[in-house]
Amino acid sequence: MEIKFDLNNMFSSLISPPYGIDGKEIDALSNQLSKAHANISSMRKKGELVFLDMPYKEEFINQVDEIVKLKKGKFENFVNIGIGGSALGSIAVFNSLSHPFHNLLESSRRNNAPRMFFPDNIDPDGIDGLFDVLDIKKTVINITSKSGGTVEPISTFLLLRQRIIDKVGIKAYKDHIIVTTSESQGELRQIAKEEGFSSLSIPNDLGGRYSVLSPAGLLCAALLGYSVKEFMDGAKMMDKKTSVQDVWKNPAYLYSALHYIADQKKGLNIFVIMPYSNALRTIADWYAQLVSESLGKVSGNGSLVGPTPVKALGVTDQHSQLQLYVEGRRDKVVTFIAVDSFSASLTIPKAYDKYDSIGYLGGHTITELFDAERKATELSLTKNNRLNCTISLPQINPHTLGQLFYFFEVCTLFLGQLYNVNPLDQPGVEESKDYARAFMGKKGSEGKKLEIEKLSKKDSKYCF
Ligand code: PA5
Repeated sequence: MEIKFDLNNMFSSLISPPYGIDGKEIDALSNQLSKAHANISSMRKKGELVFLDMPYKEEFINQVDEIVKLKKGKFENFVNIGIGGSALGSIAVFNSLSHPFHNLLESSRRNNAPRMFFPDNIDPDGIDGLFDVLDIKKTVINITSKSGGTVEPISTFLLLRQRIIDKVGIKAYKDHIIVTTSESQGELRQIAKEEGFSSLSIPNDLGGRYSVLSPAGLLCAALLGYSVKEFMDGAKMMDKKTSVQDVWKNPAYLYSALHYIADQKKGLNIFVIMPYSNALRTIADWYAQLVSESLGKVSGNGSLVGPTPVKALGVTDQHSQLQLYVEGRRDKVVTFIAVDSFSASLTIPKAYDKYDSIGYLGGHTITELFDAERKATELSLTKNNRLNCTISLPQINPHTLGQLFYFFEVCTLFLGQLYNVNPLDQPGVEESKDYARAFMGKKGSEGKKLEIEKLSKKDSKYCF
């Protein structure tokens, strides 16, 4: 069940120079690549890259299994509250593994898993609409916030918590709450202890967007009946492949080096991710956050860096964005994610044989068509000298997902080294979090309030 990488269409053997990348361009980077590898190895040894070691931390798998034992079968609805790195991983896992209409199925066809909801945004109508479809008495909520202080999940949590108290009473309500937060830091951890809520731990040093292979990302998979261990086994397999120093033997290093050259040398600073699978659609959301928050920064030498990730879906976006990718500005690299084998096999019925535009489809499977369209898109990009590559999953399952998540995390880490940025922090996000707290009147935010007043001066002549 290994995922495969085809990087051919990044090279000058198939994409005409100067667009295609020559192997010599990779070799010319060798000092930078070796330094990046050495830095990563040394940081890992010092325990600074917790996410790389997550697959080996069995205690977290056990914690998830315990919660599943406690809660599965007792509740009809599971509401996962979180935002950013504390939401996108679990949303991607849920969409990748669940039935496409999971919440509409009878419980027995859902493996007795609860219906699952992921209110990450705080749109009032969105949250209120959720209340309309939840029987609160049959609902368990899981607030995921590493810091425990992010305004959006905390506010949604307070709203749902109150509804639960109102419906089931102050004694019974605790059973309806799971808290997933930092192991030992923050006020939410304190609250979980005081209240005696069931809880899961996120290692203190594990960043949100790197937390998919932790309880923050995997509780929903376990509730669906999947093995968390298989995610970890997949990730371990990828760890082996991506720990190799030689760029020509390490798919994550080669993928990253090619993308770095594409951006820095050829001006291709838009990284498109295009899964040919509805189930993997939200992997693209997860990837977009990983790339944006990790790499969009001021580099060590003061330049502003960071590729722009773009999410696309095959085949849907062939009829929307593809024109731009094939003939528009030459500023993109496309990564296709292909799936070799889907669960369903649908044969197109034979009909209207005498009509040329319809008859030939009969007898083919939808999988064949899906595949043909992806290959056709790949060819048209290649013919037009547009860099592209393909990652293929033999199947969508916890093992292949573990590999895929781990692969992109290593790529992001490695690219961080090449761009000379710290891929683990997010100062730009923290600033807006601080402003939001100041707007809402948090104590200690007075300084920020003054800054807000200064920055908020608007000229009425530009407002209509
Ligand atoms: O990746 C990140 O670090 C962020 O996107 C955070 O996950 C996000 O801001 C939510 O933070 P928290 O988990 O502390 O509520």
